[in-house]
Amino acid sequence: MKQLKVQLGDRSYPIYIGQNLFVDSELLTRHINANKVMIVTNTVVAPLYLEQVKKSIESSGKQVDVTILPDGEQYKTLETLNVIFDGLLQHQHGRDTCIVALGGGVIGDMAGFAASCYQRGVDFIQLPTTLLAQVDSSVGGKTAVNHPLGKNMIGAFHQPKAVYIDINCLNTLAKNQFAAGMAEVIKYGIIWDRDFFDWLGENKSQVTELSSQSLTYLIARCCEIKAEVVSCDEKEHGVRALLNLGHTFGHAIESEQGYGAWLHGEAVAVGMIMAAKTSLKMGLIASDEQDLITQLITLYDLPTKHPNDMQLPEFLRHMAIDKKVIAGQLRFVLPTSIGAAELVANVTQETLKQVIVSD
Ligand code: NAD
Ligand code: GLY
Repeated sequence: MKQLKVQLGDRSYPIYIGQNLFVDSELLTRHINANKVMIVTNTVVAPLYLEQVKKSIESSGKQVDVTILPDGEQYKTLETLNVIFDGLLQHQHGRDTCIVALGGGVIGDMAGFAASCYQRGVDFIQLPTTLLAQVDSSVGGKTAVNHPLGKNMIGAFHQPKAVYIDINCLNTLAKNQFAAGMAEVIKYGIIWDRDFFDWLGENKSQVTELSSQSLTYLIARCCEIKAEVVSCDEKEHGVRALLNLGHTFGHAIESEQGYGAWLHGEAVAVGMIMAAKTSLKMGLIASDEQDLITQLITLYDLPTKHPNDMQLPEFLRHMAIDKKVIAGQLRFVLPTSIGAAELVANVTQETLKQVIVSD
């Protein structure tokens, strides 16, 4: 088992990466002080992993209650959040409860947000079961639900007490969901680590055949980068914004197409290609580097083109409420080479139009 740490003073927490973690009762309850625990999961993940997690926590003598939510991005809403609060209140959970998020990024974001505001804030731990959640959403404390007018618009920063990444969960994950997670993995290579980017290109078959050695290295490298970035800039006043590469375009695609129509990682993949094209048009990246970005995204079976029915007005409508907008001005994360990116404010509508037309 590998162990990393997110360094945030008295809110620091460990990330455990390994196999069969969910049946290790001592490990799983090490960071739970509460006597009552609420596991939040969904209808797809519950039949796969709920029993082992519940049994492991119960065997330490704690009361374990369960909230099972409907599955899907379209349920990442305030209405569904209320189902978690209903469960907590019905089972009389107090401020000393601990919420356990068992699932992908949708469950992690919702359970984390519930933890941030139930009785003004309670403990939670993350048991991420998708690649995307294991490399990105379970680490760093961003929690949220969607609003019909914008993705992740209602949320809070609330750090978990611990993150348990069991790579065996990836054996049951659908191929397109694995690919979607790879978009966020590739993101780290583009913004931060050229060697990792190259490694991803050289080790595609080991990664997609789920070699445990390759997966452990891949997930640990992503978590190391994320932990480093979050430790420097928890609330995204600076460098953390780079983790949003491709998200300004991507969130626009997700919102416009209807939540769940495009997987988050698929939209981010197209968004990263659009960001690289924007960078090229502005003379910020060399064309061979921009090509390498498209090639790696293609290699991992991700989409490369935005939906035909989206042109500049559709993108602009959604981008106007992007969380990186300051004083009405849009800011884009643009790659400047493989392994480096910048937050750029002076992207003109003409440049965006050219990128959208050429895509
Ligand atoms: P998801 O949570 O919808 O999971 C994808 C699908 O896989 C779902 O149907 C889920 O039930 C199923 N599933 C989960 N684990 C499984 C397993 N082990 N085996 C079989 N099926 C399994 O989607 P996701 O891609 O994990 O997360 C996307 C969400 O994460 C988006 O809402 C996005 O906004 C959010 N996100 C948040 C952050 C953050 O920092 N908080 C970062 C990136 C993305
Ligand atoms: N997924 C982007 C962030 O956590 O900041």
